[in-house]
Amino acid sequence: MRDIIRETPSVTADDLVQPFFVIDGKNKSETIASMPGIARHSVDRLIKAAAEFQKPGGKAVLLFGVVDSSQKNSKASAAYSKDSIVAKAIKAIKKEFPQIIVFTDVCLCAYTDHGHCGVLKGRIIDNDASLEFLSRMALTHADAGADFVAPSDMMDFRVKAIREALAKSGHENTGILSYAVKYASAFYGPFREAADSVPQFGDRKTYQMDPANKREALKEALKDIKEGADMVMVKPALAYLDVVHLLKEKTNVPVAAYNVSGEYSMVKAAAAKHWIDERAVTSEILTSIKRAGADLIITYHAQEYLTWQKRK
Ligand code: PBG
Repeated sequence: MRDIIRETPSVTADDLVQPFFVIDGKNKSETIASMPGIARHSVDRLIKAAAEFQKPGGKAVLLFGVVDSSQKNSKASAAYSKDSIVAKAIKAIKKEFPQIIVFTDVCLCAYTDHGHCGVLKGRIIDNDASLEFLSRMALTHADAGADFVAPSDMMDFRVKAIREALAKSGHENTGILSYAVKYASAFYGPFREAADSVPQFGDRKTYQMDPANKREALKEALKDIKEGADMVMVKPALAYLDVVHLLKEKTNVPVAAYNVSGEYSMVKAAAAKHWIDERAVTSEILTSIKRAGADLIITYHAQEYLTWQKRK
């Protein structure tokens, strides 16, 4: 009875995006202590992981590059070199599995020696100078075959800059998923371990949003849509479901929500202690994000959730 009158359809592979971390090297997988079940993979291992993800029906991935500190510098050059780690990963996935939808994170923080999302002028983030580097990064991803670039840096006017750069180089079919509403959140802690992207000084409050603000979220989303975003994202998801709902009501593009690392790690930690039922909690969390209005959920639980669904 409950099945036939349920308001929110079950979360399926069509709703989910699985993030992957990519590193240099061969036959390498590094575990991430704060994110059980998630690893950093070299490209060959990534292909194996992508094959596994497809088994229970997985369709879409979000790629993050991780480089060692010797490759980091003030201009984040490893982010946009032609043979960047993410470019290699995109090419390999598209060659092996052309049907997989590839999203790529566009942000400088994992590639700058200071760990901030843009380039610096002194100790201040230089918003406008950062746009060129972000655009170059998006272009290398589009050249390699990414379906969507997803800027997460939170610089102003980066969607416009990336849209123009893509158009100029014949990439009018590359989509932009904008991390339009990204809060300055403590829930990103485990990710920063995974991506080695902790800011070396200060914090991200000059470019990420105040968790107390909601009207500003709508302003940011509408601005990014005007600049050319095809989809907008709210991040994190769980503490911001009202914002997901607001964007779904007030915009006319698909809305994505990022069930971030801290949200994942809390579930994993409590489950490891047998304090919660991981499968039931995960299903409830994903359903709540979809109920709030998300058309797409980026979650580290995607593959496991799909596997559990299949076994049911
Ligand atoms: C890069 C970026 C971050 C996340 C996605 N892209 C970290 C940050 O802004 O500090 C967080 C993802 C997660 O916590 O799962 N700027």
